[in-house]
Amino acid sequence: MNKSPVILALDVPERVRTLELARLLAAEVGMVKLGLESFVAHGPDLVRAVVDMGLPVFLDLKLHDIPRTAAAAAKMALALKVKLLTVHASGGAEMVRACREAVGDGLDLIAVTVLTSLGDDDLAGVGFNGQAATVAARLGKLAVDSGAHGLVCSALDLPALAGIGGTRVVPGVRPAAGPVHDQKRVATPAQAMKAGATWLVVGRPILEAADPVAAARAINAEVA
Ligand code: C5P
Repeated sequence: MNKSPVILALDVPERVRTLELARLLAAEVGMVKLGLESFVAHGPDLVRAVVDMGLPVFLDLKLHDIPRTAAAAAKMALALKVKLLTVHASGGAEMVRACREAVGDGLDLIAVTVLTSLGDDDLAGVGFNGQAATVAARLGKLAVDSGAHGLVCSALDLPALAGIGGTRVVPGVRPAAGPVHDQKRVATPAQAMKAGATWLVVGRPILEAADPVAAARAINAEVA
């Protein structure tokens, strides 16, 4: 691990490949992220295996449930010794508060504001009024006021979140030349850092590169 702000999203289905990639890229990135795909396939054992490699782990479970259930899951994540855990801010103030009480400062509770895969039209479709940045600011304030240590948001929403405390974890990061895949509100690594990101979450631009180490190094060079 180094001081890179890049969090590598280890979104691959195979346990062996996950561990291989973690080992290959450990020296290039600042943290690794295990998400729903890995967790559903391999459960907490894989989380423990990556933590036992000495890597800081972001467990991206995006909890969203009634306060007791979400808080109980957060407590289990704390026992796995991960550094970051996500919840959905839209789970409400009480849910975020219950999760924060469950983890204290044992890990950083990071609240997802608006998914970077949702554009303004998609948001209207699920009943959120306003543009993505406005919704992100409303949800971000609610989450931080309820104890979240930081927020997940698009780089495009960072200006709207100015004045709300906590760290900023930014997915939807795409080098200028590559494909954007299913992400809609994207920014380049340099744009995201300049706008105030604490961490950049990067998956496919590294994982699908012919040379993942070179791809990670190029992103580090861009933001250095
Ligand atoms: O491959 P890509 O760089 O798009 O990966 C982004 C990662 O960030 C994925 O693991 C995705 O689940 C996660 N994420 C996101 N948008 C959010 C929260 C998390 O893309 N709002």
